[in-house]
Amino acid sequence: MAKIAWPKKVVSARRILKLRKRIERKFVQLQLLLRWPREKIILDKVLQSKSAATVFTGVIGGREVIVKKFWDRELRKHEVSGTQKALSQFKHALRGHRHSVNKFVLGSPKLGVIVVSYENGETVEDVLKQPKQVGRIDLIRLCCEWFNASTQGRQTFERFDGRKMSKELKKRWPSNPNPDDHKLLVALHAALKELAQSLDQQKLCRAPSHPDFAGRNLLLQESKRIVAVDIHRVVNVAVSRSAANFLVSKDSSIQVRSDKSWYGLRLDELKVFLESGIVPKSEIGTFFRYFVGLYTLRLYCHAISSRRGLQLRRQKVKAYLADFEQEKQLALM
Ligand SMILES: Nc1ncnc2c1ncn2[C@@H]1O[C@H](COP(=O)(O)OP(=O)(O)OP(=O)(O)O)[C@@H](O)[C@H]1O
Ligand SMILES: [Mg+2]
Repeated sequence: MAKIAWPKKVVSARRILKLRKRIERKFVQLQLLLRWPREKIILDKVLQSKSAATVFTGVIGGREVIVKKFWDRELRKHEVSGTQKALSQFKHALRGHRHSVNKFVLGSPKLGVIVVSYENGETVEDVLKQPKQVGRIDLIRLCCEWFNASTQGRQTFERFDGRKMSKELKKRWPSNPNPDDHKLLVALHAALKELAQSLDQQKLCRAPSHPDFAGRNLLLQESKRIVAVDIHRVVNVAVSRSAANFLVSKDSSIQVRSDKSWYGLRLDELKVFLESGIVPKSEIGTFFRYFVGLYTLRLYCHAISSRRGLQLRRQKVKAYLADFEQEKQLALM
């Protein structure tokens, strides 16, 4: 019988990652002590380590903070100054409101380091993974409230560039697609291209808000308040796009029956979300439907290791296409 060698490989990959985190932590710790000797920022854990940035927890004068180090030399300056500007803008927009954003503490454009306040709470993504412990509907309403408060109703309308969108679409192809899914992905691309072209030059609603409005970047405090994190810019986002980002990522790990879903999204929660008015009614069957497809495709393109994960993503694409073919409508109250 052939020998199975994979467990060894898994262990060594984990070790490499651990080692990488340790080196990054030591390196950034040294930079912090040299850049701000009086502040004596002490790093604790690595929360997340990606090629673009590493996120650490730390302490500065007894106060808990989050330290984010951007690795890309080109991006550094913009990320740091952008973060400071964006956090001050959001602080202003949310003044007097129960919802908020994390606070800016220190930043070094040269090093690409940002220090912000540590916020207690659990990410909305994690809370939603324990359905019995929270009122999911209430939580979705809180997130919508955060979004609406952040925009302060400052909506603008801009013509949608279908050709630019087709270009973005072309880039969305998984680096290593499962050969069984080739047909499915071609069909999704074709459906989205058709939709993008049909929407060309139509008016699209935009408002200034979080560039990545999703459960992983929203923390729930004391079951009643949302604090948004991971903000490096205020973007005049397409509201239908932000809504699709939030909803597709919320439902990414659940399987829903076709009669209880709309384009792969859980119907009951989708209706609650849409009641918030974030998405203009005229965009639900047009731009929103398009962006739900785009984020379903993006979700498929993200690297994944588990078989179940891949099956779920495949199911989402199928659900989207099935509803697309039927031009399934959404009955709202
Ligand atoms: N100010 C904060 N207070 C508490 N936790 C935070 C804070 N900022 C970030 N985090 C935690 O660290 C995680 C990663 O941080 P962040 O979102 O900034 O990094 P990222 O690389 O953009 O991650 P992702 O791509 O998953 O959004 C967040 O999901 C959150 O759990
Ligand atoms: Mg984030």
